[in-house]
Amino acid sequence: LALPITLLVAAYLIGSLNSAIVLCKLGGLPDPRTQGSGNPGATNVLRFGGKKLAATVLIIDVFKGVIPVLVAHLLGLTMVWVAATAFAAFLGHLFPVFFQFKGGKGVATALGGFLALSPLLASAGLATWLLVFAISRLSSLSALTAAALTPLYSLWLIESAGARWLILLIALMLIARHHSNIRRLLSREEEKS
Ligand code: G3P
Repeated sequence: LALPITLLVAAYLIGSLNSAIVLCKLGGLPDPRTQGSGNPGATNVLRFGGKKLAATVLIIDVFKGVIPVLVAHLLGLTMVWVAATAFAAFLGHLFPVFFQFKGGKGVATALGGFLALSPLLASAGLATWLLVFAISRLSSLSALTAAALTPLYSLWLIESAGARWLILLIALMLIARHHSNIRRLLSREEEKS
């Protein structure tokens, strides 16, 4: 039990490293929490930091999910522990210990966790995101749709019931984190990318 719990803590700490905040600081750019939507994530960095920086933030935040979950696989943990590792990284991104527990919305880190948990599930979720984005150009709507459908996809693609509950929990928390986006979408004030 000590090993999986150590991994959960490590995943949480890795998730807590917010690449948007750190890279903007290193690049001499304003803090993403004071710009645009105020969210320290790739979508918001794109609004003021350019495509390259936004892509870097996206890749790092995806890897924050991928790496701990890959380690969980390598350690031969059960699917529930592997899913719990993805959840821990996601939780770190949302409530980072290094940034007063005020983090991002977790889309990229959840994607990374799912990629390593089940490439098929992540591909289905990513395809959903890409399809909605191609039509709407709205990052938040794409994430919300993908988050709403991924637990359904997991019914077919994930055997472990415990892992499916954790996927549902990640999806629900991700949707809850988008409350201000949902308000803007409903009042048609959400900005396109
Ligand atoms: O990945 C976060 C995205 O879904 C919304 O970001 O900055 O528009 O709130 P933002």
